[in-house]
Amino acid sequence: MKFGSRRYIFLILVMVFIHCSPSKSSSPDDEGIIVLAWLQQQSITSRENSIYDCSDSDGRFQTMLDSGPREVCTQCHNEELRVNDFVITNYRMVQSRTIPGYPSQSLIYLKITEGSMRNYANSSIQKGIYCWIWNGSLN
Ligand code: HEC
Repeated sequence: MKFGSRRYIFLILVMVFIHCSPSKSSSPDDEGIIVLAWLQQQSITSRENSIYDCSDSDGRFQTMLDSGPREVCTQCHNEELRVNDFVITNYRMVQSRTIPGYPSQSLIYLKITEGSMRNYANSSIQKGIYCWIWNGSLN
């Protein structure tokens, strides 16, 4: 969080610098584009400090499912039963229960670590889901 707020101070300084730049080479439109590009880059690179070593995770949805959910969670969250209207093999449904880059703030990770799904999740599933979200909840 501290690191995050320092980034925003940096962003404000960059905006002031662009705005006050004597060359006036950039129009207000350019400023918007520069700030947008900066924010877009932040959304990819900003994430919490990982509690796991995720270097062996490729960040793909199918790889996450292979860590255990495909076998365990599908007992209830499959296409037919759709328990709680949640299907674990449906990327959109699972992705919407995450904050990409922030597993410890994501509903699905909280559910399998301290919530009502924790008894179904072993350590492989917990790490698989953690690293998938940490890598950006990609498809
Ligand atoms: C024996 C059946 C069963 C299994 C196995 C199971 N769940 Fe669930 N799940 C439920 C039920 C029932 C609910 C709704 C009640 C609740 O939230 O506790 C639920 C709710 C959820 C929710 C909340 C869905 C929403 O609406 O946001 C998530 C996320 C979830 N489960 C993930 C998992 C994961 C991940 C696994 C595998 C590790 C798993 N579940 C295994 C029965 C199951």
